[in-house]
Formats: sequence, structure tokens, C-alpha cells
Amino acid sequence: MAKEIDTEKVIRQHAEMETFFSGGFTVKGKTNQAQQVDSAAMEKKQSQLDEIAAEVHKCRRCGLGETRTNAVPGEGSCDARIAFVGEAPGADEDAQGRPFVGRAGKLLDKIINAMGLKREDVFICNILKCRPPDNRDPRPDEIGQCLPYLQRQLEIIEPEIIVALGAHAARTLLENTKSIGQLRGQFYEYYPGLGKMPIKLMATYHPAYLLRNYSKDNRLRVWEDMKKVLDELNLPIPER
Ligand code: URA
Repeated sequence: MAKEIDTEKVIRQHAEMETFFSGGFTVKGKTNQAQQVDSAAMEKKQSQLDEIAAEVHKCRRCGLGETRTNAVPGEGSCDARIAFVGEAPGADEDAQGRPFVGRAGKLLDKIINAMGLKREDVFICNILKCRPPDNRDPRPDEIGQCLPYLQRQLEIIEPEIIVALGAHAARTLLENTKSIGQLRGQFYEYYPGLGKMPIKLMATYHPAYLLRNYSKDNRLRVWEDMKKVLDELNLPIPER
């Protein structure tokens, strides 16, 4: 005689299997559902950043829009815990449309790698999105026109720490006029927007300054600043 199928039991077993192999199974402490929510949030952030980049590429808010070869909106992870903010694109960046790809960029890569991180793990951008002719200092009106792009990028990414590279980035984001020597080495707060949590900001020497003043003391100062960043993020500090 054929065995009667216990439909309820089959359904229960199937449900248990499903839970074991998918729903109840956690990867890095997160359920599948939580992972789906995370990846939807990441997609949204990325598309918001892409929109800003598209605006930057068309931008003519200041005269630099006429003289640039390529605008340089910034690049990196939309989920970055650290955002590095420099001054403005130089010749290499203007040619390639990517931030920190010249000599200073190579040094920034070394600093990021020394921190135990990869360039793709962080977000890298500048106060100005276009190169000032002959790499002159950014003008206040240019900063005023360009800053909203950076402010929106930071509001979307919500990094835990901003590393301001050099005096122009630090002074602009902190709205003060102190020297980088005075500003570096301690945490400040940057306010990304109404109702948003403040973001910790560490100022340090610009890699181009380090290249011009390549002393052991200056390198150590930057490394001390980056160790504070890693410590704040509870990340291991690699031996040097
Ligand atoms: N210097 C900067 O400040 N930004 C770059 O992208 C390159 C050099």
C-alpha cells in the first residue's frame, strides 16, 4: 500500500531547509534581508553620486569650466569610512579626470596602503572639481561655487572620518584661517547638513607638501595623524 504523504511535514521540512540555507543563515552577522536592504541603500548612494558627477562634468559655475580639460568629481567607495579631500586637480588629474593620479597621488596611495587600506576602500576628492590654471591657489569665488558639490558628496557618503589634505581643504571645511601646522594632528567636527551627525575631521599635510619637504619628521607627522584616524575607526595599526 502506498504510503500517505504527510503534506504538513513536507512543508515544514522545506521551510526549515530554506531557513537553514538562506533566511536564517548569517553572513558577517547579517541576514539575507538585511543584506538586501544594505545593497539597495548602496545602489541609491552610488546613483546619487553618479548624478553629482554628471552635474560636475557639465558645470560652468565659474571660469574654470572654460579652462579645464576634464572635470574631476572624485572617486572611490560610496560606503567609505574615510574620505580624503585635497585642494584641486593638477595637470595629471585634469588630463585623466581622476583625483590624485600624479606624483602627489602616488604618495597618497602609499599612505592609504600603509594604513592597511586600498584606494577603492576610501573616497578621494577635492575642494575644487576643476584645475586652476598653472595650479594657482583656488579663489574664494571658485570655492564658493564648487563647495556645494563636495558638501552633497559628503552628505551622501557619510564617512566616519574626513581627512583634509593641506591648508586649503582644512580651512575650507573648518571655516577658519589657521595654518596647517596648527590644524593638523587633532580631530575637529565637520557638519554635513541639517539633522546629520557631525563627521570627525583630521587635517594633515598635503602629499604635495610632503614631496617638497620630504623630511623624516614630516613623514612621521603624517603617519601619526593617520594612526589617530585608524585608532578612531578601531582599525588595526600596521607596523612600520
Ligand atoms: N593635488 C590635489 O589637491 N588634488 C589632486 O587631485 C591632485 C593633486
